[in-house]
Amino acid sequence: MSHAIAKWIFWVGTLVSLGLFLALTVDTRGQFAALTHADKLDDHVVAGKRAFQARNCNDCHTILGFGAYYAPDLTRVVARMGEDSIRRRLEHPEVAFADSYRKMPQQHLGQQEIEDIVAYLRWVGNIDNHDWPPQDSPNRWKRSTERVMAGAALSPAAALVQQENCLSCHTLGGSGESKGPRFEWIGARRDAAYIARYLADPEKVAPGAQMPSFESLSQEQREMIGEFIVSLAAQGR
Ligand code: HEC
Ligand code: HEC
Repeated sequence: MSHAIAKWIFWVGTLVSLGLFLALTVDTRGQFAALTHADKLDDHVVAGKRAFQARNCNDCHTILGFGAYYAPDLTRVVARMGEDSIRRRLEHPEVAFADSYRKMPQQHLGQQEIEDIVAYLRWVGNIDNHDWPPQDSPNRWKRSTERVMAGAALSPAAALVQQENCLSCHTLGGSGESKGPRFEWIGARRDAAYIARYLADPEKVAPGAQMPSFESLSQEQREMIGEFIVSLAAQGR
């Protein structure tokens, strides 16, 4: 290859890449308002973001991939663990994380501060960031919804979950409500015995927990539900 051709390839390649990069950047910027649901960005969200900064949550956590890697990423934490669980952890981290080897400090947040932070985390969780960070991709749970629902008709435990309305507070495979943690998240961290104990008396296992107890179920039924939830985590992988 001659010197002139090499130069030519260099310039054309560089300029085409630069042009593409600029065009895609401008295109993405044009979509910011829609991708971030800018219309939902109210005063609570802004106050929550300020509190998040003032309390240095980023010293330990990442959000949208930015921050420190000591503690879990919070981008999709509302979908993952639900709003009430977040409230309880912010209010009493020393209780909620008592049996964890990693510690989150008690910062004595005010009630309003907690609500603002939850509003901020909810807003961030709804940003369409093309599945970033990837471990919380909503598509992953969408795929498993179909699988879970296909099996639900056959499984007595799934029928109990439906009968007891667990999904009015929890999500399973992307459907349900995010008051409590997503079932797949629970299944990946707990065993069936823990879940059975929790259903019998949530307050005893997690002081301050908001979930009603399911004493009306038999111990056997509670264990069955526990095994079902644990099996969900394996299916999601
Ligand atoms: C000194 C470090 C530190 C700071 C500062 C900190 N956290 Fe944490 N946080 C942790 C650790 C560690 C965990 C995980 C504990 C465990 O389960 O092992 C955690 C867990 C959480 C969780 C649960 C996430 C999950 O997926 O389990 C939430 C929500 C949370 N923190 C929110 C916050 C918010 C909001 C702030 C700021 C007000 C904050 N944290 C400040 C260390 C910290
Ligand atoms: C009224 C709302 C509500 C209903 C109904 C409900 N839950 Fe919960 N659940 C919660 C909340 C909120 C939490 C989080 C508690 C916390 O961490 O503060 C929770 C936590 C849990 C946990 C413990 C998670 C952990 O890792 O510690 C399990 C297990 C659980 N729920 C299973 C169920 C099952 C199974 C049903 C149906 C039989 C059910 N829940 C019905 C709200 C509810």
